[in-house]
Amino acid sequence: MVDKVNFAARYGQWAIVAGASEGLGAAYAQELASRGLNLVLVARRSEVLQSFASQLSEKYEIQTKIIVVDLSKSDSAEQIAQNTNELEIGLMIYNAAFSAIGPFLERSLADHFKEIHTNIHAPLKLVYLLGQRMLAQGHGGILLMSSLSAFHGSAYISTYSATKAFNILLAEGLWEEWREQGVDVLVCVSGAVKTPGYVASEPQQTGGLGDMTMNPDQVVLEALNALGKQPYVIPGRVNRLAGFVMRHLLPRKAVIQFMGRVLRGKYIE
Ligand SMILES: NC(=O)c1ccc[n+]([C@@H]2O[C@H](COP(=O)([O-])OP(=O)(O)OC[C@H]3O[C@@H](n4cnc5c(N)ncnc54)[C@H](OP(=O)(O)O)[C@@H]3O)[C@@H](O)[C@H]2O)c1
Repeated sequence: MVDKVNFAARYGQWAIVAGASEGLGAAYAQELASRGLNLVLVARRSEVLQSFASQLSEKYEIQTKIIVVDLSKSDSAEQIAQNTNELEIGLMIYNAAFSAIGPFLERSLADHFKEIHTNIHAPLKLVYLLGQRMLAQGHGGILLMSSLSAFHGSAYISTYSATKAFNILLAEGLWEEWREQGVDVLVCVSGAVKTPGYVASEPQQTGGLGDMTMNPDQVVLEALNALGKQPYVIPGRVNRLAGFVMRHLLPRKAVIQFMGRVLRGKYIE
């Protein structure tokens, strides 16, 4: 494991967390602050971000900067890149996502495109713009968030899971392309995590999977510990086992049907 001092040397001086105001993004920010990195916190809610940034600066004696931007908008990545031009960005975590749950045709086409903009366009542009800077400075890390639902087609969240599959393949390819040049790329393929966003979308019934949700802090620690060692990580033993069974033991068709039943039970019926 890279210790905290080495972590700051490798991924400092500044980290960007895109989607940092709550849930997993806030947990990433907290952990990075405790490791001594200065932080650029990105989200839409200005007051929440400002107060979180002040807390972190005071508690960990780090510098913080907030960028209030909607990552579903087409120029959001450019805004972030321009506003951080003067900073040495050693780490970029793309955590924000939009997920439209429900029967495909009952969601508007605009919602499907919002998923593409937030979950594909913005991270791709940020990886491009910041990857250039990291390669030029000879060090850096990029962490993209994905989901176990991206290992196969997932009914009722099919566009979301497709966008998350894009992130897995993008990160894996760049891990191989950039690892000899000092830039580590990782995708965190997460199962369910108790974040405000997840809890708000979660109906009472569990839909047959039981309570497999993890705490954000656990996910963050496993992800940061995997950075620089491997192209992807699935946090949590149960999730790793589920991922292995779904990808390697069961026929793909059976997994798609099983997950369809689970999601139907959870969100539709
Ligand atoms: N939670 C889970 O169970 C789970 C499971 C698998 C994968 N994941 C992945 O983990 C990541 C985080 O999940 P989460 O549940 O913590 O997410 P979330 O609660 O939906 O949002 C996380 C953060 O992103 C920001 N954000 C959302 N949309 C934004 C936008 N358009 N522009 C700017 N900021 C935006 C939110 O802040 P503002 O509202 O202030 O903008 C918030 O700080 C996502 O990539 C998700 O796909 C989560």
